[in-house]
Amino acid sequence: MAEFSLPKNSKVGKGKTVKAEGAANTRDFHVYRWNPDDGENPHMDTFKVDMDSCGPMVLDALIKIKNEMDSTVTFRRSCREGVCGSCAMNINGKNGLACTTAIEDAKGDVSITPLPHQEVIKDLVPDLSNFYAQYASIKPWMETQSPAPEKERLQSPEDRKKLDGLYECILCACCSTSCPSYWWNGDKYLGPAILLQAYRWLIDSRDENTGERLDNLEDPFRLYRCHTIMNCANACPKGLNPAKAIAETKKMMVERRG
Ligand code: SF4
Ligand code: F3S
Ligand code: FES
Repeated sequence: MAEFSLPKNSKVGKGKTVKAEGAANTRDFHVYRWNPDDGENPHMDTFKVDMDSCGPMVLDALIKIKNEMDSTVTFRRSCREGVCGSCAMNINGKNGLACTTAIEDAKGDVSITPLPHQEVIKDLVPDLSNFYAQYASIKPWMETQSPAPEKERLQSPEDRKKLDGLYECILCACCSTSCPSYWWNGDKYLGPAILLQAYRWLIDSRDENTGERLDNLEDPFRLYRCHTIMNCANACPKGLNPAKAIAETKKMMVERRG
């Protein structure tokens, strides 16, 4: 297999290579490493993983590396079936979920780095504090003013259908961290994931705070920094289209101005 080379002028150094003892059928996994406690620069370690005893997904390889080759390799994961969103990372240049990305589909060596343009806590773990604070800022819960009904707030099947393509979002941040507008203005621009969630509440027939929700987005940065770049829809591992939700929100803004 060709020697792994880093891009010219990369600030990420080359690290160690670890081989699986006695394995005949191996694949190279290059994993981004950075530990805030050792004072070293970031680097890529190479793990030659035994494919004959590895599960099919990139997350399987990472778990195998951690269990058998280097227990200090750090990453997030929980459900291992694409529903918790915690194993989001960049695999061969594309954001995705490690647990639903087949090793077989990756051509050649597999390079794994954290989600782009976020502070790194350690190795493959990004700091998503800003992302979660932005999520809280859109009040992701139902707000009502009318008195609570005796049983429940009903929704017609047609209105429920409007939530399709929105409720499935697992808040993995693959879309936001692939959006150039979010890279440059992530402190002020809410980004595609949070705007998709904001629209999920704007369009919910049971929510009664639509006006206030729109007021909250009426700002040169929070909503309007989306320039329809479309990386978000391309990156979403659940096949959702945040760009469409953003366009619908902009339409609601125009409509209410009359
Ligand atoms: Fe992840 Fe898709 Fe939700 Fe973005 S829209 S956070 S990519 S599930
Ligand atoms: Fe970014 Fe998607 Fe808009 S990539 S600029 S949020 S269309
Ligand atoms: Fe939950 Fe991958 S581990 S989405």
